[in-house]
Amino acid sequence: MDQPERPALKRLYIETYGCQMNVYDSERMRDVLAPLGYAPSDRPDDADLVVLNTCHIREKATEKVYSEIGRLRAHKERRAAEGKGMTIAIAGCVAQAEGEEIIARAPAVDLVVGPQAYHKLPELIARAARKSGERLAADFTAQEKFDALPARAPDGVSAFLSIQEGCDKFCTFCVVPYTRGAEYSRPLGDVLGEARALVEKGVREITLLGQNVNAYHGGEGGFAGLLRALAQIEGLVRLRYTTSHPIEMSDDLIALHGEEEKLMPYLHLPVQSGSDRILKAMNRKHDGAFYRRIIERLRAARPDIALSTDFIVGFPGERAQDFEDTLALVRDVGFASAYSFKYSPRPGTPAAAMMAQVDEAEKSERLARLQKLLSEQQRAFNEAQIGRVLPVLVTGQGRKPGQAHGRSPYLQAVHFEADAAPGAVVAVRIEAASQNSLAGARAASATEAA
Ligand code: 5AD
Ligand code: SF4
Repeated sequence: MDQPERPALKRLYIETYGCQMNVYDSERMRDVLAPLGYAPSDRPDDADLVVLNTCHIREKATEKVYSEIGRLRAHKERRAAEGKGMTIAIAGCVAQAEGEEIIARAPAVDLVVGPQAYHKLPELIARAARKSGERLAADFTAQEKFDALPARAPDGVSAFLSIQEGCDKFCTFCVVPYTRGAEYSRPLGDVLGEARALVEKGVREITLLGQNVNAYHGGEGGFAGLLRALAQIEGLVRLRYTTSHPIEMSDDLIALHGEEEKLMPYLHLPVQSGSDRILKAMNRKHDGAFYRRIIERLRAARPDIALSTDFIVGFPGERAQDFEDTLALVRDVGFASAYSFKYSPRPGTPAAAMMAQVDEAEKSERLARLQKLLSEQQRAFNEAQIGRVLPVLVTGQGRKPGQAHGRSPYLQAVHFEADAAPGAVVAVRIEAASQNSLAGARAASATEAA
């Protein structure tokens, strides 16, 4: 009997660098490529298609991409000798920023695709196979991308949902406004539709994603309005969002943190520096006092809210006193977690051309001091949970029967003893804490914590 024609199985390997937006985009690329017969592989050397989903935000991103391409070229040549092909695709922000150069410099690369053009991957792959036409798609049409991408198949109880892309803030150190383009918000109806579909497929927690997620303006009521609408979805038990900008923390959004139980008491709110002089040079549009005031108001609305942030040390012109101001802000606020980086000049951004770049050794020393303080705070925050009963969203089962893992409301990883199905929220008594996770046991077998 004739079998319906199915595309031959091909292997796809995606290497993801950088932010959660890229993690989300890699998932979407897998979805776009599945109908073409691409099944995920966990190794680049036996893949028919390799995608490097690159990040341009820090460090020597471009050099890293070229050295990775070099490694892939060796696999490609070996496969060619065995009569097999390998398509190499460069995606993400390096693709957007340096697409033309990559095409010119790396003949092993078959195609380059910017973050707004992933829906064009099938077409680009077909062109690469025919060895004809443009190898580069790097235009800025976020709307078209979202409309064209297929429905998603979530693989767990917690999912990301991208609602906003790009940024108009132009912090002087940052490449995002150049690589991801102008701020674009997806229409409210589209976001709600995608969220409902995820919940129908078993998702219980949604993290809204965007470079400037709280600048969302895709529907009436702005970002707080969107959160309110999402909170109405039955079966969705937890909402989170990242990354936010302090100047977009509206009164309404702050109030919602005290009103909406589904909105988790955890917020990643990058401050970058505690020095007003440096914040001004960064074009952050807020100072230290403004940031402290936002935190105070968030805590008034939701006293247990856990805070996370980003810091850059060694921004051009940062003096010892500016750095002390950063440490003072950390001590004043108290963070549950934080990311901190040495300033790295990004070509084309205003800060890269500033005089008074800080010496590399000085940057390293400051970073080490800052990270020591931040990790002390993180450990103290985790240890403060010992003895508490926390509602934990179960994300999976442990290696042995009777073990499970999940997330606390404060985004801590929790390992615990219980027979609990993924998707349930169970009450866990916290018995131990480490730098990065908590451990405990189910508090009461019949109690399902809210
Ligand atoms: N150098 C160092 N860190 C940077 N970030 C963004 N651009 C740079 C840069 N040029 C950091 C910021 C931002 C995070 C995502 O990356 O702290 O919030
Ligand atoms: Fe970059 Fe964030 Fe500043 Fe936008 S607000 S320019 S994404 S650091």
